[in-house]
Amino acid sequence: MNKNSKETVYITSPIYYVNDKPHIGHAYTTLACDVIARWKRMYGKDVYFMTGTDEYGQKMQQSAVKANMDPKKFADKLSKNFLNLCSVMNFSQDTFIRTTDKKHEKAVQHLWYEMETKGSLYKGSYKGWYSIRDEAYVDESELTKSKDGKRLAPSGSEVSWMEQPSYFFKLSAFQDKLLNYYEENPDFILPKTRRNEVISFVKSGLKDISVSRVNFNWGVAIKNDPDHVMYVWLDALTSYITACGYPSTTHEKSKYWPASIQIIGKDILRFHAVYWPAILMAANLPLPKRVFAHGWWTNEGKKISKSLGNVIDPIPLQQQYGVDQIRYYLLREMPFGQDGDFSKENLKTRINNELANDYGNLCQRLLSFIDKKFDGVIPVPESLNDEGEKIMKSLKELVTKTNNYIDTLDFYKALETIFREISFGNRYFTKSEPWKTFSQDIDKTKHTLFLCCELVRHVTYCLFPFIPTSCIKILRQLGYSSSDLSILDLDKSIAKHQKIGDIKIVFPKIISEKY
Ligand code: MSP
Repeated sequence: MNKNSKETVYITSPIYYVNDKPHIGHAYTTLACDVIARWKRMYGKDVYFMTGTDEYGQKMQQSAVKANMDPKKFADKLSKNFLNLCSVMNFSQDTFIRTTDKKHEKAVQHLWYEMETKGSLYKGSYKGWYSIRDEAYVDESELTKSKDGKRLAPSGSEVSWMEQPSYFFKLSAFQDKLLNYYEENPDFILPKTRRNEVISFVKSGLKDISVSRVNFNWGVAIKNDPDHVMYVWLDALTSYITACGYPSTTHEKSKYWPASIQIIGKDILRFHAVYWPAILMAANLPLPKRVFAHGWWTNEGKKISKSLGNVIDPIPLQQQYGVDQIRYYLLREMPFGQDGDFSKENLKTRINNELANDYGNLCQRLLSFIDKKFDGVIPVPESLNDEGEKIMKSLKELVTKTNNYIDTLDFYKALETIFREISFGNRYFTKSEPWKTFSQDIDKTKHTLFLCCELVRHVTYCLFPFIPTSCIKILRQLGYSSSDLSILDLDKSIAKHQKIGDIKIVFPKIISEKY
């Protein structure tokens, strides 16, 4: 890295199959990326955050046929749903890659060429089970049977028998190299339980994988053998480097590869922690620094599936409850990496108790008091007493803790810790009784109000990546106008004569059932 250049941070979400409507699972993965991206930007890092859509493959072709549409037009129409999800959920992606983009095709073909010339591809024929829904090859040993005797992939989707000429990637040749890489980079795959699963899968023996198909044509063509299209996963994984201008090494985005963190769901870990690093090794490209596999949501205790009709659409949900409310709930309800249940009752409880009663109420009572008794000017004590110094120290520690938790993707702990500070703020305000001390000890009142404002300011900075719009509203009420937050702002304490803005409720309570 050049001495004057900022540290780069490249964050990727998976690219989503367009034939499904965006649902809460998609929003969840990209949200986690968004939180990291926003937080790192506050630290002045050179952030690049990528998301996008996965538009080729047999599943897509079948869906286009069903819809009686040309697959490209079909993809154009559906990809917009995902771009729209990004704007509805207030994601701050820097790029949105579509696999049907010309530049992507060029990148995939070049990667193929590299793998071929470096001796990692060979032609043969494939015989085996395939799940179109998962776009995945399924080993005989992984199959289960449905009640009516159908063969199923581990995900529960049906498989069909496939026999056709195919190119193969020599995955087996990378077994030891992968195991060494996992060993030398213990944080490459997180959480640890997932890492162990991957290691035991690789140790059990890797088979070469089929990377081309001839029975349909909706995919990136293989240049020297146009009857074949590339296996959709090879094409999809390449999107992570397409976004960095691959194969160019002088592209303005080249500096971002290798990725700092790739966030995915647990179902697609094998592709990202085994196939993808092996493909990169085959092409002699650097490997991502970290892959984190999060858990899955159920809906009110039931598995989410199209056939059960219980898919959660984030768009009406955010209209009912608010975007930040949904963003908060998703990362507060279950530890990232574990499975959890989406429940409207819990969502309402968290909105009412944590956002409205704790955070919202602290802002409200504090600012209303300043408005009434100090003409809307935040009182600043001449110097801080011991208690004040102690509180300021704990606020600095809160920022460090939040940073550490976000670095380890422990969003749950980050939010828990921030809200503990908010509860402390409420208790401190109540216990200090500024309405009483106002006539007896004005210096004490000033201390209470100033420290509570500092507390609100610090927790609001920490909460910004999670609930950005609400945080900006709260900072406005505190008298700050910028929406471009830098963590360095916190080094300067609240200035004398700072006037607060208009006081408005930021987190309305959910009362009636119509919600
Ligand atoms: N197109 C591939 C990814 C290619 S990346 C090079 C794909 N797409 S997907 O649209 O099916 O799924 C994308 C993500 O959504 C996955 O990370 C998956 O884990 C996540 N989720 C799908 N359902 C989910 C839940 N019920 N809960 C949480 N996340 C879920 O796979």
